[in-house]
Parts: sequence; structure tokens; C-alpha cells
Amino acid sequence: MSSSLLNKFGRRIRWGMVGGGIDSLIGETHRLSARVDNRYELIAGALSIDPLIAKKTSELCLINNDRSYEDFHMMAENESKREDGIEVVTIATPPHLHFEIAKIFLAKGISVICEKPITKNLSEALELKQIVEKSKCLFALTHCYTGYPMVREAREKVKSGAIGQIRQIQCDFVSGPFMVEEKDIRKKHWRFKPEYMGKETILGEIGTHAYNLATFVTLEKPLRVSANLRVLTYGRQTYDDGQLVFEYSNGRLGRMWLSFVAAGNEHGLSFKIYGTKGSLEWSQEQPESLYLRSPSNAEQRITPGFPERMSVGGYHACRLREGHPEGYVLAFANLYRDFADKFISKKIGVENSSGHFPDIYDGVETMKFYDAASRSNQNDGAWISI
Ligand SMILES: NC(=O)c1ccc[n+]([C@@H]2O[C@H](COP(=O)([O-])OP(=O)(O)OC[C@H]3O[C@@H](n4cnc5c(N)ncnc54)[C@H](O)[C@@H]3O)[C@@H](O)[C@H]2O)c1
Repeated sequence: MSSSLLNKFGRRIRWGMVGGGIDSLIGETHRLSARVDNRYELIAGALSIDPLIAKKTSELCLINNDRSYEDFHMMAENESKREDGIEVVTIATPPHLHFEIAKIFLAKGISVICEKPITKNLSEALELKQIVEKSKCLFALTHCYTGYPMVREAREKVKSGAIGQIRQIQCDFVSGPFMVEEKDIRKKHWRFKPEYMGKETILGEIGTHAYNLATFVTLEKPLRVSANLRVLTYGRQTYDDGQLVFEYSNGRLGRMWLSFVAAGNEHGLSFKIYGTKGSLEWSQEQPESLYLRSPSNAEQRITPGFPERMSVGGYHACRLREGHPEGYVLAFANLYRDFADKFISKKIGVENSSGHFPDIYDGVETMKFYDAASRSNQNDGAWISI
């Protein structure tokens, strides 16, 4: 966002959070990301299911006592009545609550930045789409890997025809820190409890990230999926590994390996995309390197920070000069910045088409994938239309 836009707006966006307390994994990443561009002011929150942790987190964030809520219903009600109430809320609770929370805030005219997976199931996502469309609000979904400069550059390379017509798409999310099942039910993360997102929770937790990333970069949606999920860890009640095959138009195939138990792996998100002229490869753990290969030229390692070497879309996501690693938080911050950009432009009546953030329509697509892959898995890997 250009600073002149913010100057015209004359203040920061009044922002709140539901979930994301100090008892959470992702809350602080949101706060760091929102601070980067100085566009948001965190002034209210229902930050934890535990009232003491909610209060403690509010204190750490310098949120006034009267705007630290124990309950998100109360937060939506009170904030919407205030002249200086929040305009945007981030939802960073476990996913089974996303729909209910989003619905309540949207009904009060408050825009939403929602963690993935967007909802518990496809029917909730479809209903949420209608609610967003009827509202005057913006809705963003934090599939944060689309904020990396090299991911955006990869999309621009595909658009420009650098690899020709796409033939094969491979996007994997194979992490490895969850090799042993937690025996103490109180300590067990909800991603391994079937009552939250079903036995197929792996599809929402990491599958939607990989699916969103692949569709973002390739600008293609698969037509059908065949999914086979497995439980590889003793005592685990949810799937922790699986192979998925996708069919694209003209019979082309794509593949996705999802795992929580790839021994020794850390994060494990990556893609390889092959076309008629060449291929692109990127991995989340070396996010500053995008590889472009072709049969006729030497491998090209594309790196961020060079305006003359990058597309406008890719360079828009760069913050630092060449040779200075940017990393996860700045990628996440790109979503916050691009959302703020849109939000403020809309408020002050300025046209703005720069930047990108995954939206409600991406959310619906990810849940179509989730739904089809779950049904395929329940039918022994049968091909199911997405
Ligand atoms: N974008 C990413 O890369 C990324 C990474 C990790 C997690 N996530 C997503 O973020 C969301 C949260 O995941 P997490 O791992 O941080 O979960 P977590 O269980 O670690 O934290 C959840 C937070 O929500 C709070 N909470 C639960 N119920 C609440 C309620 N009724 N009211 C207010 N607060 C409530 C908890 O107290 C906690 O602060 C999930 O949807 C997850 O998939 C996204």
C-alpha cells in the first residue's frame, strides 16, 4: 500500500482478534504480520477459550480491559455498538468455530480475516460465501504461502508462458514432527482429535494449504480427485498420511502427498510444476529460491529483490533489497498489507487492484477439494468430481 493511501485514510484500521491467545500456535504470527506495515491497531479481542489466558494476552497486547472479552458473541455485540468499534476481525481459533464466528461479525458489518481451513465443511463454506456476498465486508483467508515473493513470481512465470502449457502438477505437504501420538488427552492438539474436523482433518490442516498453493500458482483447478489416506501412527484416531491424485482437463494428472509423519522432515511444503517448455520448483524452507528449468537452458535460480529481474506482481511482494532474506512473517504480512490496501481503498473510494489475498471464493474451492477428497477416501480412492 502506498503510504499516501494511509495518509488519506488518516488513521490505522481498528482491528480485533478472536482466538490467537498466548496458548495458541498461530496468534503471535498474525500480530507480528499485522504490525509490519503499521496499518492495524489491535484494540479488542476474545483471545482465548481460557478467560485467564485471554486476559493475560490482552494485557500483553495493551488492549484495554473493557475491550478484552471472554466471549466472542459479546465482543461482536459491544464492538459493533461503539463509534470506535473494530472494523476488521481476525479469526484464529480451531476451524470448527470459524463459520459461527465469521457469521456473527459479518452480520455486524465487520470484515473478516480468517484462518484456514475456512470452515468445517463445504456446506458451511457455501453459506458463508452467500453471507459475504450480501454483506459490504471484505473477507480474507490466510493461506499465507501465497504471500511469498517467489510464489507470486512463479504464478507470473506461469501466466507469461515461461514453462509453456502445464502438463504435470505436484504439490506436497509432508511434515514430520508428529511421529508419536500424545497419550494425554488434555495435551493432544485438536488436529489429532476426530471430533473437531473428522478423521480426515489432515485434508483441512495441510491439504487445503497445498491445494490453494497449487491452484494459485498454476491458475488451474483439477476436475477430479482420488484420495487414499492412512493412519500410520499407533493409537492415532485421525489420518496422518495420504496420497492424492488429481485429474485436470485433457486427462493431465497431478499429485499431492500429505503427511504429518515424514520422519526427519520439518515443514515440508513444496511444488514442482512441469510444462511443455520447462518447469518450476519451490520449497517453503528455502523460500527465496524459485528454480526455472528447461531442456535447452541452464537452470535459473530466481531470487527476490531485483525489480529488473522480476514481474510487477512478484516484486510487489518484496520488502528488502536483493540478498537479504525476508521469510515467513513478511510473506504473511503481505496478506495483511494487501488486505489493508483493499479495505482502505474501498473506504475512501479509490480503485485498487494491486496485491493479492486469498478470499471467500478460494475458501469455497478448498472446501470442494476437502469434500471430494474425503468422499474419495471413504470409497477406497474412487475418482470424485471436485
Ligand atoms: N496459516 C498458517 O500457516 C497456519 C498455521 C497454524 C495454524 N493455522 C490455523 O490457525 C487456526 C488456529 O490454529 P492453532 O494451531 O493456533 O490452534 P491452537 O489450538 O494452538 O490455538 C487456538 C486458539 O483459539 C482459542 N480459542 C479456542 N476456542 C475459542 C473460543 N471459543 N473463543 C476464543 N478463543 C478460542 C484458544 O484458546 C487458542 O488461543 C486453525 O484454523 C489452524 O488451522 C494456520
